[in-house]
Amino acid sequence: MCYIYFGALHHTTDNSGGEMEPYSETNQVDTWNELTLVYRSALKEINTKFEILNDEFQQVHQYNPIEHIKARLKTPESIVKKLKKYGKESTIENMVAYVNDIAGIRVICSFTSDIYRIAEMLSNQSDIKVIEVKDYISNPKPSGYKSYHMIVTVPIFLSDRIVDTMVEIQIRTVAMDFWASLEHKINYKFEGNVPDYIRDELIACASMVSLLDDRMLSLNEEVRKLEAAGKNKEE
Ligand code: GTP
Ligand code: MG
Repeated sequence: MCYIYFGALHHTTDNSGGEMEPYSETNQVDTWNELTLVYRSALKEINTKFEILNDEFQQVHQYNPIEHIKARLKTPESIVKKLKKYGKESTIENMVAYVNDIAGIRVICSFTSDIYRIAEMLSNQSDIKVIEVKDYISNPKPSGYKSYHMIVTVPIFLSDRIVDTMVEIQIRTVAMDFWASLEHKINYKFEGNVPDYIRDELIACASMVSLLDDRMLSLNEEVRKLEAAGKNKEE
């Protein structure tokens, strides 16, 4: 048995705007099912927001900034592993309070400029609260990892209350994603003890990813300029 508070950042209010009592005493299984429902709903909401932005871009600018979107719920095993890493007991309260990425969504864009555009448009939506931003594109990790991370909350409207629910968003280019997935696999294979020469090679590849992203962006801008010039001539 446990009392569930949706943490300081998972504030609950009733649909009329008044404060609600925190979750009442209930059994762990019901609580777990209810929690995963809320996190799954948050993934749906954020996914739809990105799809709408992408569709609007297609209509207005005739191009899609988003290549694809992947959403996932963290497995109970990974949640327990993370709590252990933080030195916290495996309880539902701790999971809600300390694990930011139970609901995770990854947005893969064509160009670096799209990443900032998409992130800003989402942040400006009135129901979204940005809790944290980590710009590993301006400041890559020592591993060479590049990506734009945001932790946000989105309100989930249940029958009798609204639950602000946390979602981790990672936005990156196709090339950054290619690098990150290989690096992740390599780290997994070596259980973190990657030989120095492989680590160095990964860092070198990360520089090539940045170079590729920069050149593809310039190329795209050049083509768009030519397109615009062509249209002006027609008019
Ligand atoms: P975590 O405890 O891993 O969540 O770290 P954190 O809370 O400091 O968050 P951070 O924003 O640094 O990283 C969150 C997620 O980004 C990770 O779970 C990975 O999915 C991804 N990530 C961060 N660093 C790397 C990296 O060096 N390589 C790869 N492949 N992914 C990374
Ligand atoms: Mg994290």
